[in-house]
Amino acid sequence: MSRSAHPAGPRHADVLPEGHYAAPAEDLNALDPKVWAHTVARDADGVVTVGGLPVTQLAEEYGTPAYVLDEADFRDRARAWRTAFGADADVFYAGKAFLSRAVVRWLDEEGLNLDVCSGGELATALAAGMSAERIAFHGNNKSPEEIERAVRAGVGRIVLDSFQEIVRVAHVAQTLGKRQRVQIRITVGVEAHTHEFIATAHEDQKFGIPLAGGQAAEAVRRALQLDGLEVIGIHSHIGSQIFDMSGFEVAAHRVVGLLKDIRDEHGVELPEIDLGGGLGIAYTSDDDPREPHEIAKALTEIVTRECEAARLATPRISVEPGRAIVGPTAFTLYEVGTVKPLDGLRTYVSVDGGMSDNIRTALYDAEYSVALVSRASDAEPMLVRVVGKHCESGDIVVKDAFLPGDLAPGDLIAVPATGAYCRSMASNYNHALRPPVVSVRDGAARVIVRRETEEDLLRLDVG
Ligand code: LLP
Repeated sequence: MSRSAHPAGPRHADVLPEGHYAAPAEDLNALDPKVWAHTVARDADGVVTVGGLPVTQLAEEYGTPAYVLDEADFRDRARAWRTAFGADADVFYAGKAFLSRAVVRWLDEEGLNLDVCSGGELATALAAGMSAERIAFHGNNKSPEEIERAVRAGVGRIVLDSFQEIVRVAHVAQTLGKRQRVQIRITVGVEAHTHEFIATAHEDQKFGIPLAGGQAAEAVRRALQLDGLEVIGIHSHIGSQIFDMSGFEVAAHRVVGLLKDIRDEHGVELPEIDLGGGLGIAYTSDDDPREPHEIAKALTEIVTRECEAARLATPRISVEPGRAIVGPTAFTLYEVGTVKPLDGLRTYVSVDGGMSDNIRTALYDAEYSVALVSRASDAEPMLVRVVGKHCESGDIVVKDAFLPGDLAPGDLIAVPATGAYCRSMASNYNHALRPPVVSVRDGAARVIVRRETEEDLLRLDVG
């Protein structure tokens, strides 16, 4: 994830000499619990099951490609975050990672709040019955309609991203006779160690108001003067897929510094800070994410320590994990269409999906793992690249992985940890039909987002 994006097209230079790759896992039939959802296992026949159901049955019933989501795992992870932060903090699930009405209901039942960043996400949350007070509304360019809808609905907070937005939201709230609770999103000048496209707190980018040059302090000063706004706190989100807590430490230090300046200048202690999301997950066995309780402990300690040093009462903390909750809960189930060995290079395995259901590999150089799931195999490992069926050679799902050498058309393979930013970033490229999300729990499966149909595509094409 450290390289910058490659130009369009294949990455010829990426074909590495033999022997360069990490050795294959000792047992290709093993399923590393780090990257697979909790209930995933291999049954006595070698078929992978999830929630007690064999993937072969899921493929037959729902087709491939399909995102298969383990509901029990989702609920476990949501609950773990909620419990880790306790009653004195709030956990807002970041809906951009993946949102559907079923997911909103699960979150509601597990006591989480929700972060939305568009009218569409807000509509989904409200349609599922989430109380508006538990919704935070984000975005760096909210439309007037979105602002009005959010204020009218009574969302718990709007996170303001620019000087213009401070005035816009204040105006809408005042016109509607309301006082809108808001946070101000600042950029603290932290370089998160992640891909450039998903790092968000260095200064040269579109989100937030820079702390540098006193801009954030000026934003708070202006917001405090406007009758339509109740400024409840400061927001900072430093990026995504982060393992190293030091970025959060610097961010918390700087946010608390701003709270102190605000107290000194205006005599107001803002009661809340939001440290955003961005906690990393394991995409491959090489990744070592931290547990929610460790993260909660670290963040709470940092904020408490910084506030004590600044002689401020510790504000209420909120966080916004998206990927860390939904990412590991789902895998994408594909059927192998062709297996093409290229002498001296690798074997290309084409599946029935591709960059339309997982753009992350092409966009961020993301790494994934993959396993043969419709049967076990003792064949020798072969080095593969899993590719899709789209019309470009950058259509790669898994760049380098090992699969059994007897892999054949008709086999089912699955790519784990695709719950976040895969369905939510899926496209209709080449008029692909976006796959369904099938949720599985206690031996029962149900479709929570159905597969698109050609009628869906043609409905928008008005001729
Ligand atoms: N809060 C804010 C304000 C955000 O902008 C984001 C993500 C989150 C929370 C949740 O971050 P998470 O915990 O899911 O990392 N499409 C990219 C990720 C973009 C993230 C955008 N904002 C990817 O696939 O890696």
